[in-house]
Amino acid sequence: MLEPGEFNRCIDDSGIEVWVTQMGGFMNMNTAFIDRENGIVAVVDPFDSRRWVEALEEEGLRPTHLLYTHTHRDHAAGFPQMKRLIPDLEVWGHTESNHPGLLGHVVFRKVGFTHYWDHPPQSTVVWSKGNISLIVTHSPGHAPGHVTFHGHGVFHAGDLLFTYACGRDDLPGSNPMDLLHSIAFARNQLLELPSDWRLIPGHRYDWIDGTTPDWVSIAACLEHNYALNSPNIIDL
Ligand SMILES: [Fe+2]
Repeated sequence: MLEPGEFNRCIDDSGIEVWVTQMGGFMNMNTAFIDRENGIVAVVDPFDSRRWVEALEEEGLRPTHLLYTHTHRDHAAGFPQMKRLIPDLEVWGHTESNHPGLLGHVVFRKVGFTHYWDHPPQSTVVWSKGNISLIVTHSPGHAPGHVTFHGHGVFHAGDLLFTYACGRDDLPGSNPMDLLHSIAFARNQLLELPSDWRLIPGHRYDWIDGTTPDWVSIAACLEHNYALNSPNIIDL
């Protein structure tokens, strides 16, 4: 298991590096996609931005893009500091995630997006920079404008799915039916992906055996995640 701020680093066949870490009291999982050839570093939901910037600097890298799954306070915790450290970032999220009616609530944090996705629920767009290519799926339910990212050997699920469970549907802005449809859509995506890709959850929570792995394989998640195996999902 990763210590807070410890990075796991993998390189896929196309030369894209994937760094994964966990940070903070809620064990938020952060993922970065790195294209050294083109100097692109896209970080998903950075929690401790100073730690991210320090680790990347050791490799002669710096964040160029932030990609947000959603704007709950813990996932957007690193935004103010990252913006101070790297002012010229591109910051990407879904238009629905900055809903003004929800921003005043304690569970959300305002993120200064510079670019938006605006595709409908349970649909996808491709986000590509340099040699990085990710599928961005609009997967609301846990939070408005929630998205997942997959590519380069990982499915970064945000708070749609954890290793064994799924995200809460009882928070301000949550919608239980949207969550069911988003999980059903994700299940079909996961069934089409290589079974040995990693499912990176938004938080490192309990697995079936009481351990808290940083991730599980897509095959293991499809087999054991209770939400992915709910009759409510499979019958949709
Ligand atoms: Fe969340």
